[in-house]
Amino acid sequence: MNPHLVIAVDGPAASGKSTLAKRLALHFGLRFLDTGLLYRAVAKAMLDHDLDPGDAAAAVRTAEELEAEDVQPNRLKGEAIGQGASKVAAVPAVRAALLPFQRRFAARPPGAVLAGRDVGTVVCPDATFKLFVTASEEERARRRYEELRQRGEAPIYAAVLAELRERDRRDSDRAVAPMRVAPDAWVLDSTGLDADAAFEAARRYIESQLERR
Ligand code: DC
Repeated sequence: MNPHLVIAVDGPAASGKSTLAKRLALHFGLRFLDTGLLYRAVAKAMLDHDLDPGDAAAAVRTAEELEAEDVQPNRLKGEAIGQGASKVAAVPAVRAALLPFQRRFAARPPGAVLAGRDVGTVVCPDATFKLFVTASEEERARRRYEELRQRGEAPIYAAVLAELRERDRRDSDRAVAPMRVAPDAWVLDSTGLDADAAFEAARRYIESQLERR
């Protein structure tokens, strides 16, 4: 029988963690959850109702009332939603409201790959594998810039870099579940690697560990 596998893939904004996590899920036959979408869905619901994502009490209410249909990836892109998500994510009761869903998702057979900021440290501290994906600030800003351009927007590189830094700082400095490298995480620096190369490196790491069992 196959063991229940849980793979945590954490990392900063635009590190490529979601793309990598999705490919690992496909490769290992696991379910996939981008946990950032939950925080983004809270921010989007607030913006849609003219609420300020910085309003902690309103963010908690919104998180507690979140429905599955609010979590639609194609509607949750964009920098305003990302910044809003980073703000609501700093509210402890918002994180607490979103935690049970994430844990249930990881527990369901045959296992799952979860991408986020605190999967290996808080959501699934007992994950089978913990990956922390990172890349230099400049490279991450370049990737985000290209992504925006391909979507038909006209981004300004310096602004993209500034927003990325602001989000990283907020996600790392918050009091509850800050973005941290779990002590037992394998760190993948994807600076200079394309998506295929990052996937190959992660796949080799996981398979070599599985062979040793
Ligand atoms: O991964 P992302 O850019 O879609 O995440 C949006 C925001 O949500 C991010 O800035 C911080 C927050 N987040 C979090 O606090 N914990 C997670 N596990 C995932 C995302």
